Amino acid sequence: MTIIEAIKNRRAIRNYADRPIEKEKIEKLLDVATYAPNDRLRQPWHFYVIQGDAMKRYEEMATEYLQQRFPTKPHLVESSLKVVTTTPVAIVVTSAIIPDKPDDSEDNMFATCCAIHSMWLAAQELGLGFVWRTRGVGLVHDERMHQFIGSPENEKVIGTIFIGYPEEGKEVPPTERISFDEKTTWL
Ligand SMILES: Cc1cc2nc3c(=O)[nH]c(=O)nc-3n(C[C@H](O)[C@H](O)[C@H](O)COP(=O)(O)O)c2cc1C
Repeated sequence: MTIIEAIKNRRAIRNYADRPIEKEKIEKLLDVATYAPNDRLRQPWHFYVIQGDAMKRYEEMATEYLQQRFPTKPHLVESSLKVVTTTPVAIVVTSAIIPDKPDDSEDNMFATCCAIHSMWLAAQELGLGFVWRTRGVGLVHDERMHQFIGSPENEKVIGTIFIGYPEEGKEVPPTERISFDEKTTWL
């Protein structure tokens, strides 16, 4: 597969088989991430890998969050929780915030986004399903996540990545894209 084909074929995969992921594969994803472009080689990312017992604790945090958010909708809490309980590995990715340097901090976030995209493409090559979550149980905008991963104050959570072998029979159709023609101004 060429790089262009890989970019075009990448999909958000949200349903996983009940199968663990080999540690070597997780390490490959983390290794690939560190090759992303980044300003002045600050390498601003940090990765928090959640699996096994830590995933159980994540489930507890997600339950508390969902029950607070949907106090009168237990079915919604239950169905939303499935996202966590059926995911073998999650990786929370943070980016370094530099005090009094908002531009550099922003560039760090851009670099970290590049790192996540690299991981996403690599996951595809390794046969893994992958989705970057920010909303809902991704808990990116919730203070609980900082406490859960134990990240220092100068780290901002950029994404929670959910990874697993894709569930068979749940092929994800291509997403429609607006042509670059409509998104481009030639000056
Ligand atoms: C910054 C970012 C945040 C996202 N947050 C979520 C999310 O919270 N939940 C989710 O299911 N998918 C999330 N996604 C995945 C997108 O929904 C997905 O990429 C989009 O639907 C297009 O599908 P495709 O990636 O298969 O082309 C996120 C993607 C990005 C880049």
